[in-house]
Amino acid sequence: MIDISSLYQRFQDELSQVRASGILEQLMQKYVGKQGEVTLLLKNLVNVPIEERKIIGGQLQDLRQTIETALEEKLSHLEFQEITAKEAQESLDVTQPSHTMLGSLHPLTQVQHQLVDVFQSLGFAVLRGPEAESEYYNFEALNIPSTHPARDMQDTFFLRSGVVMRTHTSPVQVRAMEKYGAPLRMIVPGRVFRNEALDASHEHTFYQLEGMMIDENLTISNLLAVMKLLLKEMFGREIKVRLRPGYFPFVEPGFELDAECAFCSGKGCNVCKHSGWIELIPCGMIHPKVLEYGKIDTKKYNGWAFGLGLSRLVMLKYKIDDIRLMQSGDLRFLQQFAF
Ligand code: FA5
Repeated sequence: MIDISSLYQRFQDELSQVRASGILEQLMQKYVGKQGEVTLLLKNLVNVPIEERKIIGGQLQDLRQTIETALEEKLSHLEFQEITAKEAQESLDVTQPSHTMLGSLHPLTQVQHQLVDVFQSLGFAVLRGPEAESEYYNFEALNIPSTHPARDMQDTFFLRSGVVMRTHTSPVQVRAMEKYGAPLRMIVPGRVFRNEALDASHEHTFYQLEGMMIDENLTISNLLAVMKLLLKEMFGREIKVRLRPGYFPFVEPGFELDAECAFCSGKGCNVCKHSGWIELIPCGMIHPKVLEYGKIDTKKYNGWAFGLGLSRLVMLKYKIDDIRLMQSGDLRFLQQFAF
């Protein structure tokens, strides 16, 4: 004799223990699946006399229906609970006060953006070059052959492959000539690397901004005019400059451009070591050999170039007394430039 009510009771007990929708599937298989208890009982009815079979069959069909309905109800109940719990966990309270600290641009980036604006307004393209550079572009194509003592001017990190971490942004000069030809106006802001003895004004990793113009009949006056404009935009007023001879194998003639000290207006102070001048921008007329390396027709074109020490310019502009602060990641330093 089949005890339908105790079977149903057992099902209800087990159902009441279920806490997750995934477990319901197992319960369904156990009772009304292909090999489930109720299903098998129904199958075995063939051995029961016909009159009895009708009665028990009807009861089992009812039971099956009841179990299926109970499972469905429980499933939708559990799913609702699970979704509600998930929503509560993931919910975003837009009224909650924010404690996020706002970031701001690094002073180097701010000055770089300012310079890029000035040069773009003069029609200069902004170019990039690889930081891991070939000896050819870093030295040879700049008229510094491997035996030349000028290589000692820039202590260099060599990678095992013989590639150098570029010591200046000047390698992009010949790269740009090769790619774009003449006439050409371009700047290259970028990171450079030197194996330096570190102090308040020397870093192993610092930033430069290269500039180059190639055209017909360029003169030192063109170079000076652009340098003066650059300084005026940077310091917000006319800045006096002077040129001194400077040696770089890739320019001829080469100069060190000094700017009147922005701190004391040329009167003399600690920053300019009481000279009234600050050495700021090495520059010069591009050496014809470099133009030849860049496949520029030297009968038709000439050019000028400069290599601004961007990190040093930022120090000057914001009166930063130690270059090492710039890459220290110290928030007390960085927050002073937040806007
Ligand atoms: C050069 O790197 C040349 N490529 C510049 C140039 C370009 C000359 C085009 C002529 C034509 P120099 O080694 O002087 O030159 O470096 C340029 C500037 O980088 C310096 O004036 C200085 O401001 C900055 N600088 C040099 N070494 C360091 C350093 N270790 N830390 C921070 N700034 C540095």
